[in-house]
Amino acid sequence: MIFAHPISDDDLVRDVLARKHLIEYSVHGLQHWQRVERNGLFIASRDGGDPEVISLFALFHDSQRINDYEDPEHGARGASLATEFHSAGRLKITEDQLRLLVFSCTHHTDTTHHTDATVSACWDADRLDLTRIRVVPDPLMLNTASAKSVAESRDYSELEATDHPINR
Ligand SMILES: [Fe+2]
Repeated sequence: MIFAHPISDDDLVRDVLARKHLIEYSVHGLQHWQRVERNGLFIASRDGGDPEVISLFALFHDSQRINDYEDPEHGARGASLATEFHSAGRLKITEDQLRLLVFSCTHHTDTTHHTDATVSACWDADRLDLTRIRVVPDPLMLNTASAKSVAESRDYSELEATDHPINR
């Protein structure tokens, strides 16, 4: 298993990876996607949110980046790829779930706060992983109580102890 949630099975993850821009190493690559899923499922278990949408957000949100720096349209391109996979019957989610997935991907770098639990979990999960580039997430930029608690304490031990492929 590459991802923890069965909605993002290995075949789907491999097919999304096959559509990824070919760069040798990226701070927005697969390991980041895996940590975003881990963080998002952790947040959902405490503050709510749809685990299927959160897992697919982790898979698609940075999948269409063309560099690690300035690429403001990458979220929208990731959303388009998710829509393409859905149209091809590859994502077993409802139209409402697809709408949440598209919104979360499209706006994950241009918007900070949202009242929807799923959108909040997606964006907080991504921001908690800013530590990979030595940026401590600002609790004021987060939405959920569980993510704020991690950011305030700077203690990732609970996240790192969860049963997720990235932790094994
Ligand atoms: Fe990301």
